[in-house]
Amino acid sequence: MEAVDIRGDGVRLRGYRADDLDDLVAGYRDPQTRRFLRGLPSPFTRRHGTWYLKEAVPAAFAQGGAVYAIADPATDRLLGGAGLERPVSTRQQAELGYWVGPWARRRGVATAAVRALCGHAFGAGIARLELLTHWENEASQRVALAAGFLREGVRRGAVAGPDGVREELIAFARLADDPPGPTPRLLPDLPGGELTDGVVTLRPLTADDVDFYAELHAVPDVIATSVPPVAPTYDEMVRRCSSAAAHWLAGDRADLVITEAATGTRTGSIGLFYQEPTTAQAMIGYSMLPAWRGRGFPTRAAQLLSLWAFAETSIARLIAGAVPSNIGSQRVLEKAGFKREAYLRSRLPGPHGRRSDDVQYALVAEDLLTEGPRFDG
Ligand SMILES: CC(C)(COP(=O)(O)OP(=O)(O)OC[C@H]1O[C@@H](n2cnc3c(N)ncnc32)[C@H](O)[C@@H]1OP(=O)(O)O)[C@@H](O)C(=O)NCCC(=O)NCCS
Repeated sequence: MEAVDIRGDGVRLRGYRADDLDDLVAGYRDPQTRRFLRGLPSPFTRRHGTWYLKEAVPAAFAQGGAVYAIADPATDRLLGGAGLERPVSTRQQAELGYWVGPWARRRGVATAAVRALCGHAFGAGIARLELLTHWENEASQRVALAAGFLREGVRRGAVAGPDGVREELIAFARLADDPPGPTPRLLPDLPGGELTDGVVTLRPLTADDVDFYAELHAVPDVIATSVPPVAPTYDEMVRRCSSAAAHWLAGDRADLVITEAATGTRTGSIGLFYQEPTTAQAMIGYSMLPAWRGRGFPTRAAQLLSLWAFAETSIARLIAGAVPSNIGSQRVLEKAGFKREAYLRSRLPGPHGRRSDDVQYALVAEDLLTEGPRFDG
């Protein structure tokens, strides 16, 4: 590929220049860049920067790829970098990578640069562009979706981590003839980032919630009602919290923390699992810390989540289940407007290798319209 100037929305992709060195070194020393761009020398020195500009960039072009500086079109200052690697050149494919310096993040630079580079690559005969992100790299997954890439799946053991353990990467791809514009999402962001009725607030689970998540998942009846009914390891809990945003963006599950609205104290969790988009049916599940039970919080949470799901997503039917002995959970569902529909024998994996029956409830949008919210505790 040839180094040419590429215009984007608020960005210019151009060849690197010797006077980009300071910004390049600052960008490659940034912890966020280092966390997600594996294989950078540590520490990244000016000598490394000079080597990169003089040798790595020309080598990338020589191998059929491309490396561009992302520059501010007004000042020409370096904002980041974007490149294409051609791992399987005979298949007209390339892999796209990018970084933006901390001084230029969260103002659409990466999205504009990726869109512009895609247009250029497709114009040069590339048929398929791939983009790989770490599970925890929410920003990069948002860039991928905003630039019209479709999430295709998970590449296991795709890259060596800092400790030598191989890490999974999420694979996104965009084809030359994919429709323009951002990739539609099954689960949009919450309006203003949260849902609240003034008493409880629901907000997305994040990597900062691990201690709370561990406390909740050490409660015996929370373990017993989990599927499967086994206490997760600490590593598994870290993984769940740090991959929650990726699942939300993928549209398969939304994990939320139920907080006390007045104080922000974490009290429980509620999840929405969009397992059946083809029939527009999703499932919810929730758990409360024992100290916060008896206040109607999960009922409010289920109601808030249901209202959001019916108003903001394609979901037409919500289901939830409880083991027959879990009367508290069944009361929560009834108070939240769910109707009992079925008794499913041996539906769920139970403790000690046995199976558990499942009482199934469902809520459809009309139930809420006819009955209205019942926040009467
Ligand atoms: C990923 C990265 C390139 C994003 O650059 P950027 O210029 O800030 O991205 P944009 O401004 O185009 O933001 C794109 C989206 O991500 C969101 N976003 C950006 N940073 C975010 C963050 N830290 N957390 C959550 N969302 C974030 C933006 O709000 C925007 O969302 P929207 O499209 O839903 O509105 C930058 O954070 C970076 O350089 N990270 C380190 C290197 C890296 O991860 N490279 C990619 C490897 S796959």
